[in-house]
Amino acid sequence: MIVGGSVRVPGDKSITHRALLLSALARGTSRIGGGLTSLDARSTARVLRRLGAEVSPLRQGATVTVRGGRLAPPELPLDCGNSGTTCRLLLGLLAGQRFSATLTGDASLRRRPMRRVTHPLAEMGARFDDGGHDGLPLTVRGGRLQPLRWELPVASAQLKSALLLAGLTGSVPVELTEPAPSRDHTERMLRALGYTLEQREGKIVFHPDGKPTPLALQVPGDFSSAMFLIGAAILAERGSLRIEQVGVNPTRTAALEVLRRMGAAVEIENRDEPFGEPVATLVTGPAELRGTTVEGSEVPGLIDEIPLLAVLASRAERTTTFRDVGELRVKESDRLALLARNLTAVGAQAVIDGDNLLVTGGDAPPRGRVTTGGDHRIAMAFTVLGTIPGARITIDDPACAAVSYPGFVDSLASIRVA
Ligand code: S3P
Repeated sequence: MIVGGSVRVPGDKSITHRALLLSALARGTSRIGGGLTSLDARSTARVLRRLGAEVSPLRQGATVTVRGGRLAPPELPLDCGNSGTTCRLLLGLLAGQRFSATLTGDASLRRRPMRRVTHPLAEMGARFDDGGHDGLPLTVRGGRLQPLRWELPVASAQLKSALLLAGLTGSVPVELTEPAPSRDHTERMLRALGYTLEQREGKIVFHPDGKPTPLALQVPGDFSSAMFLIGAAILAERGSLRIEQVGVNPTRTAALEVLRRMGAAVEIENRDEPFGEPVATLVTGPAELRGTTVEGSEVPGLIDEIPLLAVLASRAERTTTFRDVGELRVKESDRLALLARNLTAVGAQAVIDGDNLLVTGGDAPPRGRVTTGGDHRIAMAFTVLGTIPGARITIDDPACAAVSYPGFVDSLASIRVA
């Protein structure tokens, strides 16, 4: 295809979740512009309404208002849908509330590990009943919390954010050590609200001082969503694509360095930092790709981009190795297994070696049937691969893209000029 034009992508998923959750804690009215309206964002809005916050409908282009400040015990279980971020961050937020609540989700979310979050929250004084298995449904009984000093066993922004939110709702200090830096949207938002949060030598020290005040922010476009359009532009035959107002927080953009090593240039223009988060225009176009090695230390900064990078690797010269990507096993699907299986299904070469994924590129048009396991990023990555001339890829559940990117197929069509 030939790409062209200047487009925008929907609001950042991580920032939208955090903005909704912090708004629900703040007494008064918060205003969130440009927020994501996807199924995951709706899950957060839905559970917050169940907890008594007034959240206006999430509609594309409309500012969301949230009236929060006093959460109440929910009468029914809180259904987090497919959203791990909703569930894990909510566990932290509820740890400091003096009531109990039961969390559940769809079949994928019910399988995902929660003890990495509930274990440190229990150290702080919250109580949990997970029925003896590490997953949902799960009942949390919040209460008076103790300060926490904790070494995170995995670089997980969801875990880190849950613990920071527990510190906030329990009004107790939290000191965390991360094995590697993960996305820092929660830290930035807490600072923007006036809290003191120090980061030094891999440590995060948060002393919550006072209740949160209402937010007013404009959410940038989601870098992880933008990457699918960037991937399509790289695989195109000709043209150039501009994506405006994309969040380029450095804890999210490690994939750009990998693309550079693979031979694809993504220019960053019009940098700005209007609400404590860096925003820019990304400009890219077709490239001849070559294989690279993605080191384990790079993985936290590109964890959600691996499905897209893996399909690009299947079009690159030589082999690309993704090291230490075991965390992919506990995402919305077992992404590691599904990437290998689906790349193989469309005629590419992909093998799993321990916690590493090796993808060897080729030239033959990809053809075959893709099983998404309901995983939005698997669906979008293989839809992008299907834009190659001669490709014939069928995707069992293309609609699951709406978990993070409503209108993805239309966006992809809109960048095609021929
Ligand atoms: C997210 C953190 C990441 C990421 C997810 C969103 C967040 O998960 O994969 O899509 O908003 O904090 P982990 O914290 O499990 O790595």
